[in-house]
Amino acid sequence: SPAPILTKLQRDCATPLPVLRHVADAMAADMRAGLEVDAGSDLKMILSYVDALPTGNEKGLFYALDLGGTNFRVLRVQLGGKDERVIATEFEQVSIPPELMSGTSEELFDFIATGLTQFAQKETGKFHLPQGRTRELGFTFSFPVKQTSIDSGILMNWTKGFSVSGTAGKDVVACLNEAMKRQGLNMRVSALVNDTVGTLAGARYWDDDVMVAVILGTGTNACYVECVNAIPKLHKPNSTTGGKTIVNTEWGAFSNGLPLTEFDQEMDAQSKNPGEQIFEKTISGMYLGEIVRRVLVRMAEDARLFGDSVPEKLLMPFSLRTPDICAMQQDSSKDFEVVGSILYNVAGVNSNLSTRKTIIDVCDTIAKRGGRLAGAGIVGILQKMEEDSQGIVFGKRTVVAMDGGLYEHYPQYRMYLQDAVTELLGDEISKNIIIEHSKDGSGIGAALLAATNSMYEH
Ligand code: BG6
Ligand code: GLC
Repeated sequence: SPAPILTKLQRDCATPLPVLRHVADAMAADMRAGLEVDAGSDLKMILSYVDALPTGNEKGLFYALDLGGTNFRVLRVQLGGKDERVIATEFEQVSIPPELMSGTSEELFDFIATGLTQFAQKETGKFHLPQGRTRELGFTFSFPVKQTSIDSGILMNWTKGFSVSGTAGKDVVACLNEAMKRQGLNMRVSALVNDTVGTLAGARYWDDDVMVAVILGTGTNACYVECVNAIPKLHKPNSTTGGKTIVNTEWGAFSNGLPLTEFDQEMDAQSKNPGEQIFEKTISGMYLGEIVRRVLVRMAEDARLFGDSVPEKLLMPFSLRTPDICAMQQDSSKDFEVVGSILYNVAGVNSNLSTRKTIIDVCDTIAKRGGRLAGAGIVGILQKMEEDSQGIVFGKRTVVAMDGGLYEHYPQYRMYLQDAVTELLGDEISKNIIIEHSKDGSGIGAALLAATNSMYEH
């Protein structure tokens, strides 16, 4: 019977309050250590060089390019200033061909520049560029980049299954500029931003209480509004201006005190970045389905979950995807027919009712651990901000802007996340903390930051 394997899994993945509290505290401590010095902790705490958040006065035509989720996206945004705000937006998106994820840097950037060029050629209608001006672009690049200014930065390492050769250690804006040149496209990159930073800027445009942004999609990460004074590694001591900036935590690399299983360890060991991005591998969309698959393979091998043989299709890494486990958890039919048909499609097996129930329990265990740990991470960030601000974060309305496919499409995950936040903060404080989906804010956010850093007066 698979029951003992399930019981052990549930035990190993458990996230009772003390575990959540430890994760939140460790997240806050790692943030501080990462702000002290570079490489001070697992968290890179990257300076975004964004020191002016959108005000609502931004005007003009701006482009945005978003690379790093499941899709590659190009956008154009016509901003009308205070009263008119966003006059029009238009976008196109394509999924990134898998072979480009492990090809060369030139191939990847040529693909992006080609998409951008074709898109730029279709500019008509409500979109207007004053004569003689160069088009300006906000570039959302969702990987760890050591920013050297608002419009330049060096790729530190790839994450989320990308292993493109020749980009790490290079300025990604230079890579894009070279590819645009090869395409004969004349655009100026005015802002280079992480997707979390774009999301924060985009959400903040509509709501001044937004202080944190979190992506839960293929990968995961968070950024927040920090006081310049609280960043020792910036070497600007005693600044009296009270300046604020955004810090990109790269929390995917967090690893302190997580409840991990043998399945997580095996998946990590066989990944393209072993030993790295442990938090990301435990809670984000690229990996949840894969963890479940590994558990099911073990149940098939050691407890005959699917009868005499182990379904061969199920042996293929990443054959079970997070959208599959999510769909299985939504199944409310009497005999779990949806679960049955997904298992048939993915693994080529017929399953009985008790097998289906066991599988839902496995999915739930992994989604629950992920959602609750994500919630603890959010509390860790808020806690750090609260300690520094003497009461202004918890004592008033504070918004956490969320985006990414996992958050958007997985209701149980969302619920577990919210539960953990409420458990940790208590009812009173958690009433002030608004965790809110900010759909596709990062595209507009990048365009807004391009506007803030425009070379023209608008
Ligand atoms: C999108 C944001 O909505 O979510 C992107 O606009 C972000 O910037 C993406 O990278 C992440 O989600 P996923 O699920 O595509 O990884
Ligand atoms: C990965 C990237 C990070 C990004 C996140 C969400 O963790 O390293 O930069 O923000 O995925 O897309």
